[in-house]
Amino acid sequence: MKAVILVGGEGTRLRPLTCNKVKPLVPVLNRPFLEHVVDYLKRHGIRDIILTLGYLPEQIQGYFGDGSDFGVNMTYLVEGFPLGTAGGVKNAEAFLDASFLVFNGDIFTDIDLTDMMNCHHEKKAATSIALTPVDDPTPYGVVETDAEGRVERFVEKPRREEVATNMINAGIYIMEPHILGYIAPNAFFTFEHGVFPSLLERGEVVYGYPSQAYWIDIGTPEKYLKLHHDLLQRCTADKGVRFEGESFVHSSARIQAPAVIGEGCSIGKDCIVKGPTVLGPQCRVEKGAVIEGAVLWQNCRIGEKAKLRNCVVASGCCIGEQSEVLDECVLGDNVIIGKGNRLSRGIRIWPDRSIEPNAISF
Ligand code: GTP
Repeated sequence: MKAVILVGGEGTRLRPLTCNKVKPLVPVLNRPFLEHVVDYLKRHGIRDIILTLGYLPEQIQGYFGDGSDFGVNMTYLVEGFPLGTAGGVKNAEAFLDASFLVFNGDIFTDIDLTDMMNCHHEKKAATSIALTPVDDPTPYGVVETDAEGRVERFVEKPRREEVATNMINAGIYIMEPHILGYIAPNAFFTFEHGVFPSLLERGEVVYGYPSQAYWIDIGTPEKYLKLHHDLLQRCTADKGVRFEGESFVHSSARIQAPAVIGEGCSIGKDCIVKGPTVLGPQCRVEKGAVIEGAVLWQNCRIGEKAKLRNCVVASGCCIGEQSEVLDECVLGDNVIIGKGNRLSRGIRIWPDRSIEPNAISF
C-alpha cells in the first residue's frame, strides 16, 4: 500500500519552533519527527511514500532525498498554493491506483495500521477513518458511528452540548481511489469539511476504526513537550539514561532517568539533569545548573545555576547564569537570555532575540 503524508502546512501554532524549521523536521528525541513516522509506516510494510508539500518544501526534500537512506521510496508533490488536506491528496491521483493510506504529517501514534487495512478490506469500505478517544473533543472533528462502526455523522468542533462521543478523527485514512473523483483538481479542499460529509450524502461506505492505542498530534508546543515526556517515560522500562555518543559529565553531576543526552554534551560540576529530559548534541550545562522535564535542541549553553523546567529551548540558545526558564516556555533558535531573568507561564520568545540581564520576571 502507498501512503500519502500531508506535510504542507505552516505549523503556525508550533511557532517559534517552526519559524526556521518545518514541523516534520522538528526533533523528537533528537531525530526529525518525520523519521519516526517513516519508521512506523515501515513497521506496517509501507515503503512507497508520497509527501505533499507546501511550506519550505526544500527542507524536507533536502533531508530525505529519494528516501533510500531511510529504506523507503519518497515522491514529492509541491503545491503552488495550499490545496488543503484533500486537495493535496487529489494532486497525487496519478500515483494512486489501489487502496492507499492518508496520514496527517504531525501525528505520532501506535494505531495498528495492519489491522486497520484488514478491517477496511473485510468491510469493503470506500473509506476507513481511524478514531481515537480524547478527553475534550470540542476542538476536534467528532465522528459518530453505528453499532457496527459505520459512520453516520461528522461534527467538526462540536459545542459541548452537541458532543455525543469522544471518538475523534485521528487524521489517518484508508481510501479507495474512486474517492478522488469527488475532489476538484487544483482547488483548496479538506477531508474534514468537504469530502467526508459528501461521502455520506452519496451513500459511500465509510467506516470508523476505533483504537485505544497511543495517539498525539504535535500541533502545539504543549503537545510537543508531552510527546517527549510520554516517550521518555516508556524508556524507563529499559535503562533510563541514553547517551548518544561521547559526552563529558562531571563526577559530582547527577543525571536522573529518563533522559537522552546527545553527542558531545558537557555537564558541569553539581549540575542536575532530571528526567524526562532531552539534551540535543553539543549542549553545555555549566556549574550548578538544574534541568528538569525540558527539551533542548542542539548547541545550547545553560549558564551557572540556571534553572530550566518543563520548557523547550531550540538550537543555539544561551541562558544566562541564575536565569530561570519554566513552565511551558518556548524559546526559538539563537535566543539569548541575559543573567537573572525569570520566564514562566508559557512565554514564547521568537528566534534571534536577546533579553537584557534582569529584564523579565514573570
Ligand atoms: P497550524 O498552522 O498550526 O494549524 O498547523 P498546520 O499548518 O500543520 O495545519 P494542521 O495542523 O491543521 O494540518 C494537519 C496536517 O495537514 C499537517 O501535517 C499539515 O502539514 C497538513 N496540511 C495542512 N494544510 C495543508 C495543505 O494545504 N496542503 C498539504 N499538503 N498539507 C496540509
